[in-house]
Amino acid sequence: MNAFSYKNKELHAEQIPVRVLVETHGTPLYIYSHTHLVDQYRALSEAMAAINPFIFYAVKANTNMAVIQAFAQQGAGADVVSGGELYRARRAGVDASKIVFAGVGKSVAEIEYALQEDILYFTVESEPELERISASAQRLGKIGRIAIRVNPDVDPKTHKYTSTGKKENKFGVDLERAVKAYEHAASLPGLEITGVHMHLGSPLMTTAPYVEALEKVRPLCDTLKTRYPSFKHIDIGGGLGINYRSNQNAPTPTEFAEAVVPPLKKLGLTVGIEPGRFLTGNGGILVTRIEYVKQNAFKKFIVADAAMNDLIRPSLYEAYHEVLPVQQSPEMVFGDLVGPICESGDFFAVDRELPDVCQGDLVAIMSAGAYGFVMASNYNSRPHAAEVMVNGTQSECVRKRQTREDLVKGETLPEWM
Ligand code: LLP
Repeated sequence: MNAFSYKNKELHAEQIPVRVLVETHGTPLYIYSHTHLVDQYRALSEAMAAINPFIFYAVKANTNMAVIQAFAQQGAGADVVSGGELYRARRAGVDASKIVFAGVGKSVAEIEYALQEDILYFTVESEPELERISASAQRLGKIGRIAIRVNPDVDPKTHKYTSTGKKENKFGVDLERAVKAYEHAASLPGLEITGVHMHLGSPLMTTAPYVEALEKVRPLCDTLKTRYPSFKHIDIGGGLGINYRSNQNAPTPTEFAEAVVPPLKKLGLTVGIEPGRFLTGNGGILVTRIEYVKQNAFKKFIVADAAMNDLIRPSLYEAYHEVLPVQQSPEMVFGDLVGPICESGDFFAVDRELPDVCQGDLVAIMSAGAYGFVMASNYNSRPHAAEVMVNGTQSECVRKRQTREDLVKGETLPEWM
């Protein structure tokens, strides 16, 4: 199903006109489709059924608790990267026994929180982290289950900021050092070796990097299986791409499964995957109202009421997001769609054919369900947008728009000033 489509020339979120949601909730507004989230989850899990993988939703893609809960209700676990994400996942109903915790900089407090919660395992990114988890586990009388994240040095062919599995990236332990790292883990008290982890980057538009990486980690898995009886699991991370434009060809769940299931079967391990963008990316849009249309000497600028603080992907990665008018019209115009922030980097689209909109019109920035709201900031003291979840004809505000009071919450003017 296409969650966002035109009916009677009006863009709808499932069965509800976007215009109606805006009348109630204002702009800028994030809208999520519950049906899309569930459909994506099911499509992936069905395509991979032959190996029945654990699906850990990579919460970082969209941390709204309603989104996390939508996947938890389907049976998903969660991949978290901070104490905050762990807290959200637990609050949204994810069982601790289905949570895995990655990240290169876990603090003692975060590790101890995760140990107290008794999460499934830590994805360990370095040898010093092994020592830290071991010390905390001993202090708390707990066992820290661990999967070491190996860096297979495979090029995911994505933006350099979101490539993680190459040797120059900060993530994981080099494949060549991995056996030593596992020996180190085995020598430390309070740890249990459960598996191995890798994550190559995001988004991956072909399956080849997964296959190459699996080939590379296979000898390591064979060694670890013979050495450590508790070593039973491989997690191949996330990264599965989506189409941001109609001419893109991200692997379908079936193509992904066809590529990775055979090499995974050969490993004889239980399998985990950590999709984020695939599950949520095309399940969300950011709706914005046009404040001004201005023409300068060189070009036309369409000034929206959303900005880089709401959706930073175009500014940060020069990412392409499709822009659709909420009221369908064939007229197009060449120019930029920009926000009100005082930076030239504040744009959603540059030198593009855009809908020929006027002041007061609404446009939707598509594919904003992953790494959208979660990367928002209060830059220029702009309140966070509201988030709405739609399911058929039902909708609910799943996060209220911030107020001006929210913006100054927690700040103090020193009495001595
Ligand atoms: N697992 C690990 C260990 C990760 O680091 C990530 C993403 C995922 C899973 C989920 O990847 P996904 O399936 O969503 O591709 N802000 C960037 C993306 C950063 C991804 C960081 N790690 C963007 O807007 O494109």
